[in-house]
Amino acid sequence: MTVATSTRIEQRSALHDDLRIALPPADLSFTQDEEWCVVRVNGEWREIRLHDYDELFSVPGLYEHLIYDILKCDSPARIRKLLEAELAASGTQAGTLRALDLGAGNGMVGEELADMGVEFIVGADIIEAAADAAQRDRPGIYANYHVVDMTQLNQTDRRELAGYRFNCLTCVAALGFGDIPTEAFANAYNLIEPGGWIAFNIKSSFLSQNDSSEFAKLIQSVMVDKTLDVRKTQRYQHRVGTNRQPIQYTAIVGNKRRDIREETLT
Ligand SMILES: C[S@@+](CC[C@H](N)C(=O)[O-])C[C@H]1O[C@@H](n2cnc3c(N)ncnc32)[C@H](O)[C@@H]1O
Repeated sequence: MTVATSTRIEQRSALHDDLRIALPPADLSFTQDEEWCVVRVNGEWREIRLHDYDELFSVPGLYEHLIYDILKCDSPARIRKLLEAELAASGTQAGTLRALDLGAGNGMVGEELADMGVEFIVGADIIEAAADAAQRDRPGIYANYHVVDMTQLNQTDRRELAGYRFNCLTCVAALGFGDIPTEAFANAYNLIEPGGWIAFNIKSSFLSQNDSSEFAKLIQSVMVDKTLDVRKTQRYQHRVGTNRQPIQYTAIVGNKRRDIREETLT
């Protein structure tokens, strides 16, 4: 861990001392898109949906304390470890990566990438609040941060993003559930050079043969036809839900062989 990272962790711990968070009773279960908690901010309690990222990111330290400390999210560190192991196995130096971090939020994944030696990282997220929070919480991690809807890139964004000549895509805790849709993932994937590294996670049930969601179809199809040459998959506990039950995700690391074709999405 670098000195900068450990300093940031100490600063975050100090922020947590003032935060008060209450979860719903454990016997109440919600879908991931419906989960909520109650938070005391500036002396007032308010209900916040876990997927209302504008609200979460607006309070310094809240996202980390809720998702990482209380709900025990392990995903950025898990993806980092898997990617690091596969890079080492293939003799690739982290410093050669030019990474696009899709659904970057306030920079948890960018921080892991920087810590492992990736020198060029660009963040992309659909909300301005995420870009502001990344700048506030982890300044200097991203060489640039684009607030874009990946499903509808305008010509300027497309040109700028393509100009970075990315050879690595990360997308952590951001696919499905009203977050990043299949078209956005495919557009980001198609910005990566052939042979580039792809590291992401997804709810394990989306990979089951019985799941008929758009993501299940897309991921199964790119793995089977080798659009994505999978090196490693690992099922693990992403976090616990507000009902305190484990939520299982699968981390996937591989190399892009070719673009995702439009017909794969239909
Ligand atoms: C759970 S957060 C994950 C943030 C970060 N990757 C992490 O692991 O801490 C999901 C992020 O995806 C972003 N997101 C949701 N839909 C998106 C979309 N269509 N395009 C880009 N980002 C999106 C949200 O704004 C949010 O910042």
